[in-house]
Amino acid sequence: MKTLLVTGGAGFIGSNLVRLIAREGRYRIIVLDALTYAGNLENIQDVVNGDTVTFVHGSITDAALVASILANADIDAILHLAAESHVDRSIQSAAPFIETNVVGTLVLLEAAKAAGVRRFVHVSTDEVYGTLGPDDPAFTEETPLQPNSPYSASKASSDLLVRSFVHTHGMDAVITRCSNNYGPYQFPEKFIPLMTLNAIDGRGLPVYGDGLQVRDWLHVEDHCRGIMMAYEQGKAGEVYNFGGYGEEKNIVVAKAILKHLGKDESLLTYVADRPGHDRRYAINPRKVAHELGWEPEWNFEDGLRATVEWYQSHTAWCENVRSGEYRTYYQRQYEQRG
Ligand code: NAD
Ligand code: DAU
Repeated sequence: MKTLLVTGGAGFIGSNLVRLIAREGRYRIIVLDALTYAGNLENIQDVVNGDTVTFVHGSITDAALVASILANADIDAILHLAAESHVDRSIQSAAPFIETNVVGTLVLLEAAKAAGVRRFVHVSTDEVYGTLGPDDPAFTEETPLQPNSPYSASKASSDLLVRSFVHTHGMDAVITRCSNNYGPYQFPEKFIPLMTLNAIDGRGLPVYGDGLQVRDWLHVEDHCRGIMMAYEQGKAGEVYNFGGYGEEKNIVVAKAILKHLGKDESLLTYVADRPGHDRRYAINPRKVAHELGWEPEWNFEDGLRATVEWYQSHTAWCENVRSGEYRTYYQRQYEQRG
């Protein structure tokens, strides 16, 4: 059985990816995750078994650690998801974004090259393309990179490093860029889980600016299937965009969440806009449909309802995140088990 190194596998998308791969049972997995505030071992605790799925606590910026993982396992591919991922945090402080997203990606590329890892799958974002006007066509793989936030600038920088390793060193790498993910296990700093947990708690839902910004919502399970297709079928050096045909205004999404939960719209609280706020994202996923045979299986209406219900029914997960317990308890449990 081939082995995959999944970086950031305790985060939102990474943990859904680890669960998908573990469920299918076709690969061994090593998860490398630093367990920052965004990493939560509870997300994968039931699939980590020390055999087909193992967990290594550490940073992608630790070159010696990464080299030793690659030296001790015959890794077919690195599925690279570890990142600082929240735009608002990058506005407060950009340095951790450069350290993890740029320096960390470079460490992984150098180590993969030295160890002869067969394929590098770099998970990036549609935010590298910048923002769209209301009538602009959706982003394609040919759209120029015009990142607007420190977060998206760091992701674009890492994309360009990957591109340079393909061009200069002949590395077999593919880059995936997707629109906004939603679904189970998303940390409630992001829009949908934040709005959902606030609504459940009867707290205000902070809507930035006029709330008319548009995001193209993609269910995380569809995205994870796409990452695996890009790994298994993608062509070296190619970029693949994944989108959910799920464009919606933020205010409409917030109202739909309130409706699902039977809460009043008086909870909507308009707050100051995000500086440099991108107005609209939308992905044209025609290339992945034609070349990989990928289509999203979720529509946004059903996916949003199922997601709200997931947060309603996973009260222990929500409580551990709210209280901060997730940062210590599961890590201690893992370390006690050895
Ligand atoms: P997340 O913030 O939920 O998880 C990030 C994970 O990376 C966490 O487990 C964290 O502990 C880990 N991590 C952070 N720094 C690390 C380091 N130095 N070394 C090792 N691990 C580290 O992020 P996410 O939403 O799951 O996003 C995963 C990837 O997908 C990111 O690269 C992000 O840019 C990209 N992406 C996310 C979305 C989205 O909507 N969430 C959309 C497009 C692209
Ligand atoms: O497009 C892909 C990107 O989607 C990923 O690369 C990022 O990692 C991910 O965080 C996400 O970025 P966004 O900035 O679009 O997501 P966020 O959930 O932070 O915000 C979604 C929209 O909701 C955005 O227009 C800002 C708005 N918003 C967000 C928060 C947290 C609010 O109105 N209020 C809020 O409190």
